[in-house]
Amino acid sequence: MLNVTDVSLSFGGLKALDTVSVAAAPGAVTGLIGPNGSGKSTLLNVIGGVYLPDLGKVTLNGQALPLGRPDRVAKRGVGRTFQVPKLAHRLTVFQNMLAGERDHCGESLPNLFFRPGRVARQEKEASGRASTILNRLGMYHKANDLAGSLSGGQQKLLTMGMLLMADPAVLLLDEPAAGVNPVLIEQQVAFLKTLRDEGRIVILIEHNMDMIANVCDRVYVLDAGSVIASGTPHEIRANETVIRSYLGQPANTQEV
Ligand SMILES: Nc1ncnc2c1ncn2[C@@H]1O[C@H](COP(=O)(O)OP(=O)(O)O)[C@@H](O)[C@H]1O
Ligand SMILES: [Mg+2]
Repeated sequence: MLNVTDVSLSFGGLKALDTVSVAAAPGAVTGLIGPNGSGKSTLLNVIGGVYLPDLGKVTLNGQALPLGRPDRVAKRGVGRTFQVPKLAHRLTVFQNMLAGERDHCGESLPNLFFRPGRVARQEKEASGRASTILNRLGMYHKANDLAGSLSGGQQKLLTMGMLLMADPAVLLLDEPAAGVNPVLIEQQVAFLKTLRDEGRIVILIEHNMDMIANVCDRVYVLDAGSVIASGTPHEIRANETVIRSYLGQPANTQEV
């Protein structure tokens, strides 16, 4: 269980998060929606250890995460993607996958010299895992393509795959479907469902309400840094406050 409890964070005079509490269960996808600037990405940055909140805490299975220390939070099994995919464009899809690995012992010089067998074994194991994940993503046939040659949607799928190389207990996904074609969104949804079924904790920021309704077990609605509603996607769609805030806006300006 991941629990965000009473987290507040200001940037100068701007209260980006105001006593925000969110609970995300394993084996479920927890949605985070809200208008642009409502604090969604900031909340992921707090959970991922990038920002140290002014107040409040985040616990994973009852233990406080070392907030403000992204490397240490990552070691605790928390992985995140970004609104703009972070990839090495001149490396192949497969090479990017291998770079996504967390404890690659080949990067330690003493290991390379004194434990070459272990390094080779780990590399082989990582290659096997990369192949399996690329298969699950329906991207195995792209393994030798340069990451920079992929479409935006495929790059987002690849970043999800890279995240999985570290076998994270918690996945934080920031707008994976934005700018992605419907076929690839279907692929993302199918992949998210398998992550959920593996018992992982998935937190999903998304503007695409169909995707939210399709994949989320519970949804939190942020507005100006505060949680204004939470419930099942069905409950959220019927929630008066949420509708007044923005669900009722015309489709072309809707930012949910
Ligand atoms: N590093 C930062 N420095 C100053 N202000 C920030 C920073 N990051 C976000 N903000 C501000 O905090 C608010 C919430 O931003 P953000 O979390 O990115 O919103 P969302 O992801 O919901 O669109 C916005 O007003 C944004 O301008
Ligand atoms: Mg954002």
